[in-house]
Amino acid sequence: MMGYLKELFSKQEDSQERAQEKRKEKSQELAEVWSFYSSMKKPASQETIAAMLKEIQEIRGFISPECRALAAEAAGVKESVIDCIMKLYKSLKPAAYEHRITVCTGERCMSKEHRKQQEKRLGRLKKRLGIEGAIPPEGALSADGTVLLETRSCLKHCRTAPNMLFDGELAEDDSMPLCSKGNREA
Ligand code: FES
Repeated sequence: MMGYLKELFSKQEDSQERAQEKRKEKSQELAEVWSFYSSMKKPASQETIAAMLKEIQEIRGFISPECRALAAEAAGVKESVIDCIMKLYKSLKPAAYEHRITVCTGERCMSKEHRKQQEKRLGRLKKRLGIEGAIPPEGALSADGTVLLETRSCLKHCRTAPNMLFDGELAEDDSMPLCSKGNREA
């Protein structure tokens, strides 16, 4: 029994050490990214900021509010500029969600002909995802945090209105499977 417990504790210590090392490595990589971009001309261009954000996302998996603030400092711009770029580049994630659903609320998609269908679609999605109330400009996370639901005023595909994107691709309906890592239907 003692031997088993000793082995268990040493395994736990090993995995804690590995996790700590990984965190340290990530922090170092982030520090390198910040020092590289901080040394560039300020204010940085949109392309440079997007490149920095992509690098941060590669390291962390998403761009947290703290990373947004530090990125703004490194680029010599306001945080609102970072927010705008995050919206423009759909691959940049503000949270560690697995899927992003974008419902168009532009003029054509909300015309007399399509409004009802689009509102019903939004309502169904909110219900499925456990989201209550209005969707804020930065989007709303599903109750389990695995899906981001957002609205945009035009997705530039007005010919096929009413439109919706699923992970950046046009999607025909909202019945797509939304399984989280735990293999749970959202
Ligand atoms: S208004 Fe919806 S795609 Fe243009």
